[in-house]
Amino acid sequence: MLTDKMYAALNDQIKHELYSAYLYLSMATYYADQNLDGFAHWMEVQAQEEVEHAMKIYKYIQERGNRVILQQIDAPTTEFENPTAPFAAALKHEQYVTSLINNLYTLATEENDYATQVFLQWFVTEQVEEEDNVGKALHLVEQLSGAPAGLILADKQLGKREEE
Ligand SMILES: [Fe+2]
Ligand SMILES: [Fe+2]
Repeated sequence: MLTDKMYAALNDQIKHELYSAYLYLSMATYYADQNLDGFAHWMEVQAQEEVEHAMKIYKYIQERGNRVILQQIDAPTTEFENPTAPFAAALKHEQYVTSLINNLYTLATEENDYATQVFLQWFVTEQVEEEDNVGKALHLVEQLSGAPAGLILADKQLGKREEE
């Protein structure tokens, strides 16, 4: 069994991961509406990854003998100023999620929960990759979005993202 604090914090994180999926899906549909199908695809893949993150925690809580209690997920932003804005917002969001994972890790050490520390190490590593991926995508979009032809090129490039 998890300690009460650890359980509550991990259960909360499922909501944050599913909100992330919801946010990226919202960005995907914004791009699809703008006929930027490559960006839409990139965001759909990202959303799928977030569902996987949520499921990892979901399964872990159950493995520890606790019951997951699903919470309300906030509605994501639906309006964006320009095609660069979602990637900029995504980077900010990933930095925020990194801080949440770090807080979970701190709690796991305070609770002397070694198993959860090991479990969270995957997420610590994953967040480095997440920030790097989004940061690189943002950089590409920023570099190329000055001209319409550049935007199409960036869209083509990010449309090649493979599902993991
Ligand atoms: Fe995540
Ligand atoms: Fe993420």
